[in-house]
Parts: sequence; C-alpha cells; structure tokens
Amino acid sequence: MAATEQKPRIFSGIQPTGRKTLGNYSGGFRQYAQTQETGDGFFCIVDLHSLSVEYDPAELRRSTLDLAALLFATGLDAERSTVFCQSHVTAHAEAAWLLSAVTSYGQLGRMTQFKEKAAAHEFVSAALFTYPVLMAGDILLYQTDFVPVGDDQRQHLELARDVAQRFNHRYGETFRVPEAIIPEIGGRIMDLQEPADKMSTTLSSEQGAVYIADPPDVIRKKFKTAVTDSEREIRYAPREKPGVSNLLEIMSVATGESIKALEQRFVGAGYGDLKDAVGESVVELLSPIRERFEALRADERELQRLLSVGAEKARRASEPTLDLMYDRMGFATSEAGRFFGAARPRGL
Ligand code: TYM
Repeated sequence: MAATEQKPRIFSGIQPTGRKTLGNYSGGFRQYAQTQETGDGFFCIVDLHSLSVEYDPAELRRSTLDLAALLFATGLDAERSTVFCQSHVTAHAEAAWLLSAVTSYGQLGRMTQFKEKAAAHEFVSAALFTYPVLMAGDILLYQTDFVPVGDDQRQHLELARDVAQRFNHRYGETFRVPEAIIPEIGGRIMDLQEPADKMSTTLSSEQGAVYIADPPDVIRKKFKTAVTDSEREIRYAPREKPGVSNLLEIMSVATGESIKALEQRFVGAGYGDLKDAVGESVVELLSPIRERFEALRADERELQRLLSVGAEKARRASEPTLDLMYDRMGFATSEAGRFFGAARPRGL
C-alpha cells in the first residue's frame, strides 16, 4: 500500500471513435507509455465522451476494443497500469452531474473546442457543451496528480482545476488539484497541409492528417506533399516557418533526436530531403505499432478480459472519492455506512 501511495497518480483519457492520428500518438499514446514508468497510471477509454458528436452505435463497440488494442500496442502494460472503459465505471457519470453544480456556464461557453466543434456540426448537443465537466470528473475521481495530454486539452485541464478548487472551497477539501503534462516538442502536431491548424481527426483533410493505421506508402506520400514555405533554410521557427517546424517536431518525436541535432543534420539539405527523411522516420515508428495492434485486436475475448480487470481496479480506486463527494454535498445515505464504506480517498 505505502509503495503505491508514494507514486504520483497519473490519469488520462482518449476517445474511442474517430481514426487515431500521429497527433494522438504524440500528445497521447507516447506520453501514456512514458508516464506509466514513473507513476500509478489510469488510462481511460472515454466512450461516454464519444456521444457528444454524431457517432455510429454499430461501430462503437469495435472502436472501443480497437482503442484498447492500440493502447497496449503503444506500450501500456495491463499489469502495471489500469486500462479501462469509462462506461464500465458508473462513478464517472455520477461525478459529472455532481460537479456540474460547481462549473460555470460562462466558462463552458468559452471552451475553444466547444466553439470549433459547434461551428462544424449542424446539431450541437448539450453533451458537447457539458463534456468538460465529465472530463473534470474523470480526473478528479482518482485524486490525480498529473494528466498527460496534448496542448489542445490545456483549457479543459484549467477548467478541471477550477472545478476542483471551487468544490474544495465550497464543500471542504475533497480533491487534489491536478497538473497537466504537455510535451514541449510534439504537444501540438499540426496539419501537414494547413500548418496553422492542429492535426485533427474531425477537422483535417485526408492529406493533412497522418493516421496510425495508414500504410507506409500512404504515409510517405503525405509527407512528400506536405506544405513548407518559399525559403530554403531548414530551421525551427514555429511562427515564421510553421510547416518546416512541424516536420522537425514530428521527426524529433519519431526518432527521439533533439530539434538542434536535426537542424544540424539538415544544414545545406533541401526541403525534399527533409520531407523524405521525416516520412521514413514515421514509417519506422508506426510499422511495429501497427503489427502489434493487428495481433492484439484479433483476440477480442482477451481485450474484453483485460478491460474488465481494469474496470474493477478503477471502481475500487474511484469509489471512496465519489462517496466523499456525496457526503460533503450533504446527501443522506441510502444505506447505513455507505460513506467511507470502502476506504478514505487516497491522500485524505
Ligand atoms: P482526444 O481523444 O481528442 O485526444 C486524445 C489525446 O490526443 C491528444 N492530441 C494531440 N496531441 C498533439 N497534437 C495533436 N494534433 C493532437 N490531437 C490530439 C489530445 O490532446 C489528447 O491528449 N477530452 C479528451 C479526452 C479525455 C481526457 C479525460 C483527457 C476525457 N477525459 C481526462 C485527459 C483526462 C479528448 O477528447 O482527447
């Protein structure tokens, strides 16, 4: 017990629907596997989030299992980390309702992702609007210290921190206030065709986004046609040279080399050389992942078994905090001893 208590608690979530991109790898999967080495990791397939925009119910089950396979293929270890599905742990839906009492309507309306997605869809669901509350609950239920995410989740993390602080202030100390971990390089992978925009499953064009499932030739071609600029110099300057800088960041993510080392390597080289090299490095990065993914996804029963082991661990870990929330908010217990029935939340 004492040994796990000392490790920082890590939590992150990722949506099962939509094709996973190189951006998801860089801000998501890559960081999950890294942070698992140092902390007690909880990684959640946020299937409840997927309903916030139109989706196909017939595909949700398969995409949930596929995402589980991809999480394991990119390095999560089911023994060391808790990998689970949000809908399997009802505390998440309950926490979202309770926390909506301490979330400001105005702040939700200022969420960039809400505004972007609302503009892109004809039907704007209430779920799309309240989604950051569900996300805050995901994180806070586990008394999380660190949340590894990409830069696009920064604002949602700020909101989760505000919600935790407001709850603590109003009802008494209940939650740890989490911190985001956003990589300096690769925290925001940009669209290859529109380097001013984020690489995105929903908003990028087919040529602008690289998908983890893309075959090697498709990947090479996407990099060959990537947008750069009219200069010739290969240097890292995100504002002046967004396309070239994005390529350098991608190569740094794929090979682990620093941006400086890459700039030196490409002194005197042309943009064509850079694009070919980046494409090749991404092919090398993704090919073994794709192979592991194909092998893992074939065994549905094993994936289901692993997810149910994860769900059990997640239920046990989140229950004390949910109990404490109800208690602090003044609810009458329905069963004697419900509150603190299991254990006190971690760290309290
Ligand atoms: P989602 O599913 O859209 O994305 C999963 C992760 O991928 C990162 N990401 C990127 N990183 C770098 N460059 C990009 N172009 C790029 N595109 C996506 C995202 O930042 C994210 O880390 N709301 C979240 C899921 C969520 C969550 C949570 C995350 C739900 N509950 C609790 C953390 C903690 C989302 O929709 O991520």
